[in-house]
Amino acid sequence: MSQSVKKVVIPVAGLGTRGLPFTKEVPKELLPIIDTPTIHFIAEEVLAAGIEQVIFITSKGKHALEDYFDLSPNLENWLRKRGKEALADKVRQIGTFCEVISVRQKEPLGLGHAVYCARNIIGQEKFAVCLGDEIFPPWDKINQTQAPLRKLVDAAIELDTSTVGVVEIPIADSLSYGILDLGGKSLGENPAPVLRTVEKPKPEVAPSPYAIIGRYVFDSTLFDALKETKPGVGGEIQLTDAMDKLCANRKLHGVLLKGCRYDIGNPMFYMKAQIDAALRRPELSQRLRDYMKSL
Ligand code: UTP
Repeated sequence: MSQSVKKVVIPVAGLGTRGLPFTKEVPKELLPIIDTPTIHFIAEEVLAAGIEQVIFITSKGKHALEDYFDLSPNLENWLRKRGKEALADKVRQIGTFCEVISVRQKEPLGLGHAVYCARNIIGQEKFAVCLGDEIFPPWDKINQTQAPLRKLVDAAIELDTSTVGVVEIPIADSLSYGILDLGGKSLGENPAPVLRTVEKPKPEVAPSPYAIIGRYVFDSTLFDALKETKPGVGGEIQLTDAMDKLCANRKLHGVLLKGCRYDIGNPMFYMKAQIDAALRRPELSQRLRDYMKSL
């Protein structure tokens, strides 16, 4: 039984068409919440889960993401010479966050295919997968007590299984998510075996209110499942199709995540994230409140 999870795969090779025109030249994972890109929040969550290596599945034009986690000696020296020590320390800290490995996905053949591209680096270990669309802000108490990815890692190791993170959604929103079928069971503190996943069901046929939000821990049998997975919806190799093969062996468990989260791909969630972050910044909070009152 694998005792730890040391690697996370972060696929960033998609075309990001929902984020156009921003994503025409800039990866959506660099969208900032005030001054902090979403990938930074994800890296903090990854570190809190005890993970040390980040494997980006990249495509052309995504080098800014790798650069973000690199050292920037010129910038750092420039800041130090001008006495901006705190900023220089921050720049240095980001450059030493984690080890980054990049693997190219040469064609956008789907999320399942993107994860499959990491197989030679992962080998036989358990590994995590994180998508950049969702962030669990560090200022939320529940996220502080137990980072979402940490919860998935702990459950995967304890049960020797693969785990998928879900949140409870209003059933009317089921058309926007992959939904778990748990055979009618409710998810509480304990993980539950998944019978199958259903991609974007209509509310009247959604098997549960538990929606997949881009946090997973898999064992290497996922690669065997992905190898056999044919293109599905949209002609893409779908991760959920491979996950269904794990379900058949009762080797996938759903884990309920309860902390505050923002779906950055959704403009309303994105605006809320900006406002909530600004309200926590002493230099912005009061001025923002005054401005909102004045509207
Ligand atoms: P999405 O399905 O959200 O696709 O992929 P997308 O390309 O980012 O966005 P839209 O739908 O065109 O707006 C989920 C994650 O999987 C990655 C994406 O970068 C995103 O992080 N992905 C998707 C790949 O790495 N490769 C692919 O072939 C497809």
